[in-house]
Amino acid sequence: MSDNQGKVVVVTGAGSGIGKATVIRLANESAKVVAVDLTEASLEWTQELDSVSSLAGDITDPQINEQMVELAVDSYGPLDAAVLNAGILTQGDIVRGSMADYDRVMDVNVRGVALGLKSAVAAMAPNGGSIAITGSVSGLRGDSGIWAYNVSKGAVINLARAAALDLGHLNIRVNAVCPGPIHTGLTEATQGTEIGDAMEARLPLGRFGQPEEVAAVISFLTSDDSSFVTGAAIPVDGGITAGTGQWATYSGRKRGYL
Ligand SMILES: NC(=O)c1ccc[n+]([C@@H]2O[C@H](COP(=O)([O-])OP(=O)(O)OC[C@H]3O[C@@H](n4cnc5c(N)ncnc54)[C@H](O)[C@@H]3O)[C@@H](O)[C@H]2O)c1
Repeated sequence: MSDNQGKVVVVTGAGSGIGKATVIRLANESAKVVAVDLTEASLEWTQELDSVSSLAGDITDPQINEQMVELAVDSYGPLDAAVLNAGILTQGDIVRGSMADYDRVMDVNVRGVALGLKSAVAAMAPNGGSIAITGSVSGLRGDSGIWAYNVSKGAVINLARAAALDLGHLNIRVNAVCPGPIHTGLTEATQGTEIGDAMEARLPLGRFGQPEEVAAVISFLTSDDSSFVTGAAIPVDGGITAGTGQWATYSGRKRGYL
């Protein structure tokens, strides 16, 4: 376990998957957490955790980001860390994918993260803090059929790098975790399908990851154990980026390869 005892942390996309696992991990490490997601229903489980407060709202709304940090500061004190994790995925290649989908993905995955980052920095403890952004291996290279997601994740990884340069003098560290395929709501549709099996077969560790395995790296980043780590894009990917990092190409799919 990393040492997050007493840390005040906000986590977005906390209703499911990686965000939920992160809140549970941080609460188990005695951190004080504000958990944010779209609906109150998705956050009901937080009521069982004494040191967790919840906020329902959309992270593309600047006011929700303000409220998120206000709730943390008012309830627990100056902010030590922000886990900007909420994200969405849309399917569709560059020809058939709509610009409406592109705009929504960019709004949530990039603008929403930038808003969260700005709000968090303004509320951070005087001795600095840590911001962990959930990127993806899909931001390190291209995939076929999810171009808008690729663009958005490439952008937030570079956002983490740029912010790390801007905020280092305040002792605020900014890093991106880059998960490979993880069993969550986002990848549910691939379970038991030909594509899911093919993805699994290409992973050096031979399996999808669990959300808790990403939460473990995020908890390292929010803790002081990572005090000299900033501007990094850290794969948590079962080894996929040790190779080309790519799944089947579009031309491969057309030929019937997955
Ligand atoms: N699962 C994977 O294989 C994988 C791989 C790489 C990166 N990621 C990234 O991990 C992050 C978490 O995804 P996950 O896999 O846990 O998926 P998930 O769908 O289980 O969880 C994402 C959560 O974000 C919330 N959310 C979406 N849009 C929101 C918004 N506008 N405002 C507030 N909350 C919002 C959803 O309601 C959901 O609870 C995402 O950024 C995703 O892109 C996931």
